[in-house]
Amino acid sequence: MASAADSRHGQKDASDQNFDYMFKLLVIGNSSVGKTSFLFRYSDDTFNSAFVSTVGIDFKVKTVYRNDKRVKLQIWDTAGQERYRTITTAYYRGAMGFILMYDITNEESFSAVQDWATQIKTFSWDNAQVILVGNKCDMEDDRVIPAENGKQLADQLGFDFFEASAKANINVKQIFERLVDIICDKMSDSMDATPSTVTGSKPTRLTDMAPPVQQTCSC
Ligand code: GTP
Ligand code: MG
Repeated sequence: MASAADSRHGQKDASDQNFDYMFKLLVIGNSSVGKTSFLFRYSDDTFNSAFVSTVGIDFKVKTVYRNDKRVKLQIWDTAGQERYRTITTAYYRGAMGFILMYDITNEESFSAVQDWATQIKTFSWDNAQVILVGNKCDMEDDRVIPAENGKQLADQLGFDFFEASAKANINVKQIFERLVDIICDKMSDSMDATPSTVTGSKPTRLTDMAPPVQQTCSC
């Protein structure tokens, strides 16, 4: 991701200092649930059906807008494989939001959710916001986890819940928007927000439409 394969725009986005807030987000869950695919769908609107398991950790940067504020998302894509656990948990610190993902066609990935939730509790900030995501909802014929079970578990853990598909582009953008919204709500609850910062009033939706801002051209 932060590699030669990056588009010029991606590199520019990663080094862009022009933002009001920076949110560090992590995508976690068992190997092969679709974390990398989900992130590629969100940042590049692409999908690859080949499985290239993530080695260690990687990240993408995307800037979104909430009210008039530029929110730079630094989204860390963690390897699900057990052998990278020491590396990946080191990145939990300072994360403001987590997408905890399982695969609706994979029982083991769902059973592991509790353990992932414990990892969040152990290694992250107390106020970190979490969304539980059941990915691959395009594979209805192979489903082994009913949506109600996902919702029930999320309720127990105090997390928001969505089903999604990186492949069919279902709920991908909505999940990131929701995560940013709940982080902003939490921020306004826990700090003395001035009217010019994120307010405690009902949040408006994020859009990817940039407001007219003065930017120096770096090309
Ligand atoms: P690790 O990097 O090992 O932790 O795995 P990962 O969670 O990043 O999984 P990855 O995104 O690499 O996807 C694993 C496989 O599932 C790939 O073959 C993807 O093409 C496929 N996949 C991911 N998301 C979806 C989805 O929404 N629907 C379907 N049908 N396949 C998906
Ligand atoms: Mg991956």
